[in-house]
Amino acid sequence: MKNHIQIRNTIKPFNQKIEVSGDKSISIRCVLLASQAIGKTRLYNLLESEDVMNSLNSIKKLGIKFKKIENFYEIYGCGLSGYKSEKKVVIDAGNSGTLARLILGLLINTKKEIKLIGDRSLSKRDFSRVTNPLKLFGANIISNKKNLPVKITGSEFLRPINYVEKLGSAQCKSSVMLAAIKTPGKTFIRAKKSRNHTELIFRYLKIPIKIIQKNEYDNIEINGPANFNGFNYKIPGDISSSAFFIVLTLLSKNSKIIIRNVNVNNSRTGILKILNKMNAKISLMNRKIYNGEKQADIIVKSRSNLKCINCPKNLNSSAIDEFLVIFLVAAKAKGISRFKNLSELNKKESPRLEIALEFLKKIGIKFSRKKDDVKIYGNPNLNLKGSYVMEDFRKDHRIFMMSCIAALSFGGKWKIKDKDSIKTSFPTFIKLLKRLGAKLN
Ligand code: S3P
Repeated sequence: MKNHIQIRNTIKPFNQKIEVSGDKSISIRCVLLASQAIGKTRLYNLLESEDVMNSLNSIKKLGIKFKKIENFYEIYGCGLSGYKSEKKVVIDAGNSGTLARLILGLLINTKKEIKLIGDRSLSKRDFSRVTNPLKLFGANIISNKKNLPVKITGSEFLRPINYVEKLGSAQCKSSVMLAAIKTPGKTFIRAKKSRNHTELIFRYLKIPIKIIQKNEYDNIEINGPANFNGFNYKIPGDISSSAFFIVLTLLSKNSKIIIRNVNVNNSRTGILKILNKMNAKISLMNRKIYNGEKQADIIVKSRSNLKCINCPKNLNSSAIDEFLVIFLVAAKAKGISRFKNLSELNKKESPRLEIALEFLKKIGIKFSRKKDDVKIYGNPNLNLKGSYVMEDFRKDHRIFMMSCIAALSFGGKWKIKDKDSIKTSFPTFIKLLKRLGAKLN
């Protein structure tokens, strides 16, 4: 089967209601926590993507059983010390930074050495950002400089830590939070604001957690060891997957979309705030709160008069996975958009800031860059006529999907490689595009 897609036409006007698949961050957290709960957990609408399947396979390697029954996954947790310890267990996190970093937090009390590996992209990412705090709990960790593979042997004598998380990384914060639930005593974390799904699910599971919110940072206190029971959870739609459809609708002509049951936790809705500042007029309907998480239907209509933004940097973390498509909107908006402090974008599945700028150059959009600050000179008449090829960028699913949205919105003849990358986060992406009428082959 060919692993690329060709797009030769912009999408025709559409008016549709869709649902995107389950949130990736919440799916992975639910699987990992279920593996440490006492008893049975049922997860509904679990994202069935490679990152989440790698999470299920990882807990299976650690002796945790699960099965799929009708429309839910049942996971049989064995408590905080329930991972089986055999010699030479190797866990393969594939492409998933979230799985790899979070599971390390749960391995700090294992009796035998466990080796963590990943694919080419994951193996290039920085693991010292989690192994440094995890060593302070007492775990023994050996790594290949900052990268994978990492070998971890837990300790029986864990001690709580005081940790300052300065990057605004939810993966680092969550890794330490998961280690804290195994550790006797109070762990204190001062964390730069980032997505707070782990905090909310801890509250739902009645894990002792105190949070004092400050402007840029949260002070989090976790009192361990914190046993908890199996649970039921229906995972809401992923706003990061929705983002591709939000932007496609905004940039297309005479179209409308309703995306149902999406997680709209404030720590994830930076994209909506940023696009609305650019005159997008996106609205929410049927708001509800489920297990502490906000959910709503997102309504978007095409907009021809988008304007530039001076993007406040305090929105960076809540839009961190969406900047690629936000840049597409900036490319078509009137005026010069400014984005600041985007260094974390280069720490993702691929160096996304570099690739995004190469992409803008490819489609003839003027930009300038000073360190990690970027200016994009929008062109409201953007209408591509040329031929474009997008290469395989280290299996970065979001680069592939952003390229499809650009092709369907701006025109031109496109060949976009690495179609298989969507399996990591959003396997139904192409099917949904076709449902809206996109012509792809
Ligand atoms: C995630 C946190 C973010 C995000 C990633 C998922 C999570 O990464 O980019 O896609 O589920 O905690 P960082 O923690 O590296 O910012």
